[in-house]
Amino acid sequence: MIKAGIVGCSGYTAIETINLLLRHPQVEIVAATSRQADGSRLSEMHPQFTGRLDIEVENLSPEEIAERCDIAFCCLPHAASAPVVASILEQGKRVIDLSADYRLSTRELYEQWYGVTHPDAQRLGHTPYGLPELFADQIRAAKLVANPGCYPTSAILPLAPLFQQELIATDPVIVDSKSGVSGAGRTPKLGTLYSEVNESFSAYGVGTHRHQPEIVDILHRFTGKSANLIFTPHLVPMDRGILSTIYVRPQPGVTATHLQECLQEFYDRAPFVRVVNHLPATKHVTRTNFCDMTVRSHGDWIVLISVLDNLIKGASGAAVQCLNVMYDFDPTIALLDS
Ligand SMILES: NC(=O)c1ccc[n+]([C@@H]2O[C@H](COP(=O)([O-])OP(=O)(O)OC[C@H]3O[C@@H](n4cnc5c(N)ncnc54)[C@H](OP(=O)(O)O)[C@@H]3O)[C@@H](O)[C@H]2O)c1
Repeated sequence: MIKAGIVGCSGYTAIETINLLLRHPQVEIVAATSRQADGSRLSEMHPQFTGRLDIEVENLSPEEIAERCDIAFCCLPHAASAPVVASILEQGKRVIDLSADYRLSTRELYEQWYGVTHPDAQRLGHTPYGLPELFADQIRAAKLVANPGCYPTSAILPLAPLFQQELIATDPVIVDSKSGVSGAGRTPKLGTLYSEVNESFSAYGVGTHRHQPEIVDILHRFTGKSANLIFTPHLVPMDRGILSTIYVRPQPGVTATHLQECLQEFYDRAPFVRVVNHLPATKHVTRTNFCDMTVRSHGDWIVLISVLDNLIKGASGAAVQCLNVMYDFDPTIALLDS
């Protein structure tokens, strides 16, 4: 039995990770940490775990987490995560980091976009990106996996095979994404109050969102190609879900049918990517680990549409999928019945 620890257990991605791991026959959750809920029972903080996981929440040090666990799921904000991750790794244990701290390839890129010094920058560029559909071999052998961002997953999965096979132009690529409010986390913020988001729909982070360099960097890592990519996220008044509409130019002679067939072939054996003929909606994938996608033509342009649940395929489901790869389990364990 693998002993798992949940670091930052009061947040949304932690709740979903616990929920999935409770269905995993090879994993036991032995530690859950929080600063604000230190000393309480997990089921007091999250009543949905009553009778399912009755452990104490503790404000543990990274060393204490490493002593108890084989693997830690770090569900902390960026910048707070890296020092904890580095310390757990130093004790010889494995980590899946749900924050953005290890996703980018270089210190320069991280410091430019996150505005803080990276305390463990030597691992940047050597840490596998947690999309098993693209990087399974690296994930299998890894001590540390950088779990992907939710918006980036919705863009990288449809774009990567089409870039790799040179079926679409890398300039321009326009990614127009909409997310439910849980994407901003459970920590209270003015912009995510009910009265701010209800019956409203807005763009944010235009030209400045940190998922833009992540999409470009990971596409480059997988295909060797640099995209000129515009990414605009929007906040939608719903709990969860992401829909990305992606506008690209096909190479001469390439049709939407070719692209759809390419995606179908590429993801033929990927249990969580469904290349569909209908127009996908967020409700089709709510609380599942699926990413659904399709292709349409629009004059000289191609429109790719993808959907996923930001907290499952966009975060905790991807993390459990990575765990299954890291320990050579069936890739669908704990994930197909969600
Ligand atoms: N929400 C999503 O859809 C999503 C998707 C993909 C990736 N992510 C990433 O996953 C990570 C967790 O996201 P989330 O949505 O679960 O966030 P969240 O709901 O805000 O929870 C984060 C938790 O981290 C702890 N924390 C906050 N500041 C901390 C600090 N300075 N030092 C130590 N612990 C701190 C808090 O627990 P205590 O206050 O109890 O200690 C908090 O409950 C983030 O890096 C986020 O970017 C989120």
